[in-house]
Amino acid sequence: MIDKQTRRGFIFGAGAACFSAAGCAPQAKFDDSKTIIMSDTHIAKAKIQTQWGPQPDYQNAVLRSTVDKILAMRPLPRRVVVLGDVSLWFGYLGDYEVAFPIFERLKAAGIEVHLAPGNHDHRAPMISVFPECAERSPVKGRIASVVDLGSCDLFLLDTLIENPEEEGKGNPTNGALDEDQGKWIADAVKKATRPFLVASHHQVGELRFEDKPLLSTLLSSKYYCGYIHGHEHRWSASWRHVTKGERTIHRKVCIPSTGWWGDIGFTVMHTMSDSAVLTNVQSDFYYPTPVKEGESRPALWDCIVKDNNARTCTFSYSS
Ligand SMILES: [Fe+2]
Repeated sequence: MIDKQTRRGFIFGAGAACFSAAGCAPQAKFDDSKTIIMSDTHIAKAKIQTQWGPQPDYQNAVLRSTVDKILAMRPLPRRVVVLGDVSLWFGYLGDYEVAFPIFERLKAAGIEVHLAPGNHDHRAPMISVFPECAERSPVKGRIASVVDLGSCDLFLLDTLIENPEEEGKGNPTNGALDEDQGKWIADAVKKATRPFLVASHHQVGELRFEDKPLLSTLLSSKYYCGYIHGHEHRWSASWRHVTKGERTIHRKVCIPSTGWWGDIGFTVMHTMSDSAVLTNVQSDFYYPTPVKEGESRPALWDCIVKDNNARTCTFSYSS
């Protein structure tokens, strides 16, 4: 789905061997309106001994196959956004070093990669392996970013509350916004001149700014379209009213884990002139782990995959 052909997309696609029935029509290599949004990769350096036992690594192969699927798309998505929990449990440097070559394949293909941290990450080792995360952050010391999605912007927040002892230690499960980041997003909301979405690892209901729910700051802009988060490892598109009896509705969606537990998959966002549509690409379900050889697979798992796959969540640019 290409809303409009861009010069950049045309140039990249000019050499592609792509022909229509009407003759030679070069297809763009990249679709600037297409973004992959994924979460909770939980990549692990295998067998590191932790307080929860040796680190399992079956999820690494699932992310590798997810990257295979993304690289097989034609046209390619312009960008990939990862909503945290890049590391399995404790933010080990080794976890990020295992993740690096997997994401590097996307970057080598010309796809932008934007990472945000989750509660299982630690900033210092994450930044040491992915320095661009910090370099592009508008808030010093945090891993935030502004991602141009084509017809709208995505403000990507860092909601990690970090244990200062860093890698190898657990963090609080819940999320929060520090003061500097709160001021930045409040300012960005005030200055917005086109539609925008906001995303983070944790859901917006956990976040506050100046003793008020962050959501009230976001809803102060007519350009705010909705919230995308991970953390819960499930596809869940929903809404809530803002004020009882009034028509303003807040749209929000939780996206699956790429391969650790729960709903397993990723999402594809297409941005158009009047809306952004997120589609769930769900390949599996398992909890707490995939079945082992010789175990029977619960029938309900396949029912959940069938129920969730290809579900969409539409964010309208006009409220
Ligand atoms: Fe997670």
